[in-house]
Amino acid sequence: MADKISFEAPRGMRDFYPEDMTWRNKVFDAFRASGEAFGFEPYDACVVESYELLARKAGEEVGEQIYHFFDKSERHIALRAEMTPTLARMVAQRQKELRFPLKWTTIAQCFRYERMTKGRKREHYQWNLDIIGEDSVLAEAEVIGAAVDALKRMGLTTADFKVHVSSRKFLGELLAKSGISPELHAQVFLALDKRGKMPDSEIAAMLRDGGLSGDEVAATFAIMDTKDYSGCAELEELFALAETAGFADALQFDISVIRGLSYYTGVVFECFDTKGEFRAIFGGGRYDNLLTTIGGEPTSAVGLGFGDVVVTELLKSRLGENAAAAKRGVAVGFMFPEQRDAALRLASKLRAEGERVDLALRAQKPKKFFSHADQSGAAKAVFLGPDDLQRGVAKIKDMAAREEKEIAL
Ligand code: HAM
Repeated sequence: MADKISFEAPRGMRDFYPEDMTWRNKVFDAFRASGEAFGFEPYDACVVESYELLARKAGEEVGEQIYHFFDKSERHIALRAEMTPTLARMVAQRQKELRFPLKWTTIAQCFRYERMTKGRKREHYQWNLDIIGEDSVLAEAEVIGAAVDALKRMGLTTADFKVHVSSRKFLGELLAKSGISPELHAQVFLALDKRGKMPDSEIAAMLRDGGLSGDEVAATFAIMDTKDYSGCAELEELFALAETAGFADALQFDISVIRGLSYYTGVVFECFDTKGEFRAIFGGGRYDNLLTTIGGEPTSAVGLGFGDVVVTELLKSRLGENAAAAKRGVAVGFMFPEQRDAALRLASKLRAEGERVDLALRAQKPKKFFSHADQSGAAKAVFLGPDDLQRGVAKIKDMAAREEKEIAL
């Protein structure tokens, strides 16, 4: 006899039961509404990519987390860990025909072989917003503004989250002033991104291994205490634009935001819950060279990735586990088989009027029907018995207000 197959999904992969879908839909609805409100165009691609496109530079965590395999023709294939390389590939492929700046959005399923912690799974959905072909900091402001808008649509306020903003260019200038040569900056960024995730002593060791002297390591840590971004034109402009757009209260300067991906070149940002309970809600920044690294024309770009895992945990904790389950639609039931056709006719009529109708599939006692209607989240319920058919009217019950109204059958 064959061994029993486990009922559990592979470690880190998620099943979405109907109650989970309620949350996922709430989050995705906000993603889509904000993308639309900010004028982004949807795009999509397959979750499978060539490994070569996704393979990362040494030191980038994502590189070690890629799920990859060989197909039957020995092609080296991978599941995408993020959407950005695919986006770069798609843009490079049609670079001549596309009209820039592009504002593209997608909700992409991504896979990373992560160490499982709170808010980190091996598979997640990531809302991506990218503006390609625009140098102006207004692009950063629009991308961040859209993500803040989505959080507000989900029911959060700026008391619940803050977008921590910095600039790699600014940090690079500070490092250069301390005498740390630009060739070392990429390594320094990746090491500093580990701050808070590993002890400073280990980061110092990483920096020394990367070629920094003891003094330079000390200078690097001193830079991490910088509290003032004045003199950094792009950050000054970004904060001014956020003020004008009305979301300055969501932003704060934070030199420690570096980002773990090496393609960022300018403004970088990461959104966190204010209580500091969860990992990053979303992250992104400017990445002006990615297209050239895959062979495309030089093109400026800015974008973000906003996962569904952390935000759903945050929403549940701030709004309550059941906050996504809105009452909706009409449940229609009947007492005896003789009322089945009338119930089906009523359901069809209501559906034609645009209602969501959950029709009972067999005759039931009223108590059982109403308890099911309540549990399944119906806003209204109609139960047909022999008397209703005789009179040609039925009672439609508002489940929350417990009020009844008569409708013609
Ligand atoms: P990232 O910071 O690696 O950036 O991921 C962005 C967001 O995806 C994170 O802030 C988090 O919400 C979510 N996320 C990432 N990994 C996981 C995981 N294992 N489980 C749950 N959620 C996760 C990027 O991926 C960039 N490509 C974003 C970007 C787009 N930059 C420019 N355009």
